[in-house]
This record gives sequence, structure tokens and C-alpha cells, in this order.
Amino acid sequence: MTFLNVAAPRYEHHRHPLGIGEPSPRLSWTVGTGLLGWVQRAYEIELSDGTATGPIESGQSALVGWPGTALASRERRGARVRVHGRDGSASDWSPWSWVETGLLEAADWRAAAVAPLAELLGPPDGPALLLRREFTVRSPVSRARLYVTAHGLYEIELNGRVVGDDVLAPGWSSYSHRLRYRTHDVTGLLAEGGNALGATLADGWFRGKVGFEGGRTRLYGDRTALIAQLEITYADGTTDLVVTDENWRCASGPVTATGLYEGERHDARLERHGWSAPGFDDGGWLPADPLPHDPALLVAPTGEPVRRVETLGPAEVLTSPSGRTILDFGQNIAGRLRIRVRGEAGRTVTLRHAEVLQDGELCVRPLRAAHSVDAYTLRGGDVEEWEPRFTIHGFRYAEIDGWPGELDPADVRAVVCHTDMERTGWFDSSDDALNRLHDNVLWSMRGNFVDLPTDCPQRDERLGWTGDIQVFAPTAAFLYGCAGMLGSWLADLAAEQAELGTVPVYVPWIQLLFPIEPVAAWGDAAVIVPWTLYERYGDPEPLRRQYPSMRAWVDQCAGRAGDGHLWNEGFQLGDWLDPAAPPDRPFEARTDRALVATAYLARSARLLSRAAAVLGDEEGRRRYGDLADRVRAAFDAEYVSPSGRLVGDSQTAYALALRFDLVAGADRRDRAGRRLVELVRESGHRIGTGFVGTPLICDALVAAGAPDDAYHLLMQRECPSWLYPVTMGATTVWERWDSLLPDGSVNPGDMTSFNHYALGAVADWLHRTVAGLAPAAPGYRRILVRPVPGGGLRHARATHLTPYGKAEVRWERAGGRLRVEIAVPAGATATVVLPAEPDRPIEIGAGRHHFECAFRDAADDPVAERPAFFGPPSPQPDDAANPVVEGA
Ligand code: BGC
Repeated sequence: MTFLNVAAPRYEHHRHPLGIGEPSPRLSWTVGTGLLGWVQRAYEIELSDGTATGPIESGQSALVGWPGTALASRERRGARVRVHGRDGSASDWSPWSWVETGLLEAADWRAAAVAPLAELLGPPDGPALLLRREFTVRSPVSRARLYVTAHGLYEIELNGRVVGDDVLAPGWSSYSHRLRYRTHDVTGLLAEGGNALGATLADGWFRGKVGFEGGRTRLYGDRTALIAQLEITYADGTTDLVVTDENWRCASGPVTATGLYEGERHDARLERHGWSAPGFDDGGWLPADPLPHDPALLVAPTGEPVRRVETLGPAEVLTSPSGRTILDFGQNIAGRLRIRVRGEAGRTVTLRHAEVLQDGELCVRPLRAAHSVDAYTLRGGDVEEWEPRFTIHGFRYAEIDGWPGELDPADVRAVVCHTDMERTGWFDSSDDALNRLHDNVLWSMRGNFVDLPTDCPQRDERLGWTGDIQVFAPTAAFLYGCAGMLGSWLADLAAEQAELGTVPVYVPWIQLLFPIEPVAAWGDAAVIVPWTLYERYGDPEPLRRQYPSMRAWVDQCAGRAGDGHLWNEGFQLGDWLDPAAPPDRPFEARTDRALVATAYLARSARLLSRAAAVLGDEEGRRRYGDLADRVRAAFDAEYVSPSGRLVGDSQTAYALALRFDLVAGADRRDRAGRRLVELVRESGHRIGTGFVGTPLICDALVAAGAPDDAYHLLMQRECPSWLYPVTMGATTVWERWDSLLPDGSVNPGDMTSFNHYALGAVADWLHRTVAGLAPAAPGYRRILVRPVPGGGLRHARATHLTPYGKAEVRWERAGGRLRVEIAVPAGATATVVLPAEPDRPIEIGAGRHHFECAFRDAADDPVAERPAFFGPPSPQPDDAANPVVEGA
């Protein structure tokens, strides 16, 4: 009996496929087997409606086309799979898994948008308001679904129970183009007879304050409203519909003020006991206003919602020099506190949040105008438990005032909230500081993947900055399954771009200080993020969906560059936060901003040409390939001297030119590589790059044949460096190399976040190069195992749940030998390149493999004895900035 196990199939990129928007969801499955080199020859799919494919000769197991008729709205179907191996093996059927669509057509919506009366509304970030209605369930229910969303933030209850576990629903999308609804199975919450629905509505992104320099309010409208449709199917086959309409009543509630930046005030004395259960007397409530809305804007989510993912207890209780009680949770997070408290009615407990302390006190200056203060007024009597619901903070420390009696630290927990993605990537090594850096990157992703990819979670900003996710996407896609979340954000990007005529610097767009202008490296997210999703998840769909947006972006930038193919004009952010830039002028980098712009144009044109090839658009492939060639030639002529030295002579300029393959001729490339190494050495192996150069520099050094210099840079602990923050006790990646100055004081700059993932993009290099686990074909169908040990590390490991299952590379060195252990999941293969034999790639199939070769780490030798260059250059990937990727 052979061991061959097929996991229940998954649908698109959903973790919980209830209420999905894809009528023909693609199926993926993984095969567990102990058979070395096992390869799928054929698969069979059976659907619960009787559709059976019979064996289909194909090795494909990821994102396989839906074999049945398209699903209608609300339709539920099951699927199971079995597979046949080339070796004649055959599996049993996998377990069934089920998928159910949401409301696929605008015409499916009967619900109005029901708004609390205007007179109950306060100023923006004012009180949260209550809505309710009762209804009757006639007979036993066989199935009930609640489809729900809001203008503003909502929490919805049915018969006194909160429905679902979403936080900050419906999240932030570009509301004027797309508003996501959620589908909940509420069958078990209904009872025959009287029932009640109740919702709490807060302003959130819809009407509350968003943005810096005073921000903006009422961005999408002045009336918050609930859109809810409860569909009940009875055992006898009849149906009932309960929707938001003129039958709803509204009132104020216990939340007297709440805002995403402000924090929340809750007066428990104002709670209305039983308000979301049947039989409550709402005689004093007012009729709510049913308002029209456009159901065509309502879309099913492609990713998971934000949830409470973890809770942390305080690591330490501190008393500050001024005598205040401060809790240290030991970890900088995005989330909020949950308290359990007992005391007299009317007492208010106040919770203030901050990422750092200064002189032992809470340092709130980096929050700028985001007050981040929550306050709970006790109802008195029994123990009361509270967590704010419509706000979120970036913090590690919390100051607690007004606590009745002695504070027991066990009564306060930090609740970590973010998009509930599946964790898929791990890294560790023999160096604790490096491991902490990796943890910090992970935590900065968790702090900033709160429904949309943001720059930071704490200050009056938290915007979907395109440049930040552009550089971080490869790291993100390794650590977590984020195809669904980023796919949704890309749909917003395309919608904003179509309206504004360019890709704005953050998405969703709100008009603040920034001009609506194409900005290189930021707007390039339009091309690079979909490409990354394709490369890492093997899904061509993001390319197909984003193709018009990708083209529009490249066409626009090419237009700016004109016939000379040099993009020299307009507003640019350049190599943002170059450590040499003055703290208050982060755009004043050493690298010419026009050079950055032209380099990115070449890069995006090249990737777009590859995307066109994947999509079978031959004309597009040629056209953008030609454009990329022309821009490359123009860049070379303008910025690279005949001998290969770059105008400007900065690390970022060389990193861009080398990684984006913009220098013609092997000799000139070698010269450019050598010059980059010189610059890195001249800087004493301290960071000399900003947002643009930092993600590229280590790859550029390895390609220049100087991995020991890359490691020297990586392992540097003096400021500026990746490990300097670790030595200063950082638990997340900082916005600035020196957010905390060496003397322990907080950087005086106006822009000093302690939770920004952009500079953590180096983690992708840790995965691909330090550990040596990279995709060689889309979705890791072929894996490139090319570890480049160094830096004195004794071992390193990367593990990734690829679409085919778990892949792992682990190496260890001792006594001049390097041992490499590799796990390749069934359905994938790997190309192994060992440091001792860079020119002899080894092809392997599924299973566990061991290799061993001679290896000496330069870091073990005294510095003076080190050769100028370490070994022969490692093979150049054909994709300059990323691992080698073949066509689909
Ligand atoms: C954000 C950055 C962003 C930058 C660009 C900052 O305020 O926090 O991460 O990319 O602005 O201007």
C-alpha cells in the first residue's frame, strides 16, 4: 500500500470559501507522499452535483480550472480530488471540501442602506450609533445567510450574539469604487418566533479622520449606514428576507466617541441591555432613514478579514519617573487592549498607547495627531470586560490611569489584530540577532497588513503607500498567504488609477498634500506587485486582471520619458530615507531622482513584457520588450561611463543598474560591480541606501561576486544597519535607520515610526540567498536551491508552504564541510546549486535530499587575509531583480 494522500481541495486563494465572488473557482490540492520523485500524471475531480472529470492527463495541481458549470449566487458545491502518479500509483479520493458563492449580481441585493438619523450623528469620530429591528422566524430553518457591509465600520449582532469575528469590518477599500460585503452562516443563531438584528455603526474610514497634516473627514459621505440582507430558507423550502429598510430604528449607545486615530470612549452606564435581542422595548428609539446606494459597488472579498489573531500579556509593569503605571507588552504590535476591571460606577479607566518610552515616560510625539487614547467608564458592580471595537493602535507600551485599586497585570491583554492570513514562511539561523531581525520583519508585516498594506500602524497616516509594498511584496508573499488581500488592494489601485489618470502614491487615494502625479518606485507597484503574486503563487490571474492598469502605468511613464527615454521631469520621492538625507528632508538622497525614475521605467517595461508573454499577448510582449531595451540603452548612455562607472556614484545607483540589468557589456558590469563593492567598503559596511536601494543591495553584491561584503553589511551592528535597531531592543522594523538614536533618544524627525516594513525587504534575501530557497518557476513549481552561506553563520533554514506543499532548505557547516538538506513537495522539482560547484546545477524531484560539499566561510578568516573577491560570481538570474522565473 503506497502512502499517497491528497488534501481536501482549496478554492482560489480563500481560507474559508463562504460567500466568495468567483463563480468558477479554481481548485488547488497538495499531495503528501513518501515516494521519492513522485510526479502526478493525471487527476480526477468530482463535484457534489455529480460532475466527474475522469482522469485528466496533467501534472497541474495548483489553480486548476473549475470543471463544472459556473456557480450561481448563493450556490454551494463540494469537490474532491484523486490523483495518479507516473509510477502507476493512485491515491484515494481526498476528503470533500465545500465552496459557496455570495451575491454575484447587483440585482441580488434588496437591502437599502439604512442610516441613523442625522441628528444623532456627532462630528466625525463622534459616537457610534445603534440600529435594530425585530422579525419573526416562521418555522424550522434549514439555512440562513447574512450578507452585510456598511458605510462606516459595523459590528452586527443577532439575538444578542455578535455575528462573525471580523474586526474593523468592512475594512478600507476605495469605497467609491468597491465596497466589500461579508457572508455569514447564521443558521444556528436563529430561533423560531421572535428574533432581532442589531448593529453598531462607527465612522471609521468612511466619515472619520484619515491622513496627516490635519487629515480629512467625511471622505466618502456624511451619513454612516448599514447594508444587511438576511436570507432565511425554511425546512419546507420557503424563504424569508430581512433587509435594511424603513423598519429599522436607531439610538445612541455606550460608545460616546470613536475614531481610528483618536481612540474610543465607552461609557458602560449607557449600555442598553438586551438591545439586539427580541422583546427589547425600543419605543424611545427613532426610525432610521433608508437611503439609496449602488449595489454594483458591492463585491465579495478575495482575502480574509481582519481578526483578533493573538493576545499578549504584559511582560513588565513599570512605574515611570512621574509615577505613572506603564505596561510593557514586550512586542510592538497593531491592536488594542482588553481589560477586565471591577470598580464603582462612573469611574473612568484611561489607556494611552505608544511604541517607545523616552526618559521612562510614554513617548507619544511620533504618533503626531493620532491621540490613541481609549477610555472606559465603569457601570459598577460585577467584573466588567472591555475592548474597544472601532479603533486600533500601534503600540508596545500602554499607560493605565484611573484603575480602581491595585492593577493585576493579568487583567490587561494586548489583542493583536490584522488580516487573518495563513502563515507560510519561516527562517532561522545560528545568529540570534539575525533571527530577531527576521522576527521584527514578520511583526512589521503583521502590524501593517491590517486589511490593506500600510506604511505604519500608529501615527496619523496608515495609508496604502505604494512604494512601501512595492519593495516588500516578495517578503510578504513568502511569510504569509497574501494573494487575496493584495489582489483586493490591486483592484483598488486600478480603480483609483482609472479615475485619477495615474497610480497615486497611496491607495485608497485621499487628497492631502501630495500631487496626483506619477512617482517612480511608488506607482511601479502597479506592475511589480501583480508580477510578484504571479511569481510567488504561480497565479497568472493577477496579471490578467491588472494588465490594463500595468499597461496604463508604463505607457504613462514612457510618455513622461518621451523620445529620449529618460524620465527626467516631475515630482519624485527617489531613494527615500537615504541615511545621508537630512532628517527633515528624506527625499534628499545621494542618488539622482531622475536616475531612479528611468531605472524603474526600464524595470516595469521589462516585467510588463514578460507579463504580456504569460498572457499570450505577443504584440504586448514585443512592444514593451522594445521599450525596455530602449530605456535601458538610454539609461546606459546617460548614466554609465564607457568604463562602467555610474554618474552620481551612489550605492543605490549601482544596485539599481546592476539588478535591473541596465549596464551593457560584461566588462562594464564587472567594473560597476567592483565600484559598488568599493563604495560599500568605503562606508565601513554601513547602510548607504534608502527605500529604493536597500532591497537590492545584497543581491547586487552577491552578483558582483562579493557575498562576504553583503554579509558584512547584513551583520553590521553600528548605525545605520539592519541589526542596529536589534541592538537597541527593536521588536519591529523601523521607518528610519535611526528611529531611536544611539543615545537612546527618539529621532526628533516629524516622521519617526517604529513599525514600517519597507526596510525589512531584506528578509526576501535571507530566504532566497542566505538560506537558499527561491522560486525558479512561478509558484515554486521549480525551486531554486542556491544557498550562499557566509557571515560566520553556522546554519540557516528557510521553510515555505508553496502551492505544492512544504519546501525547506536547511544548511549547516562544520569542519570545512557544508551539509544541505532539502525538502521538495510533490508536484515540484528543484535545481540545486552548491557553493563549491556553481556551474554544476543538480536537478532533483519530490522528497528529502541531502548534499555535502567543501566550504570555507570568509568570515572565519582574519579580514586582512580575505581575497578582494570571494569566489567566482554566482550565476546571474535572467530576471535581474528577482529569482529566475520561467514562463507559466
Ligand atoms: C510614509 C512612507 C512613504 C513616504 C513617501 C511617508 O510618510 O510613511 O512610508 O512611502 O511617506 O512620501
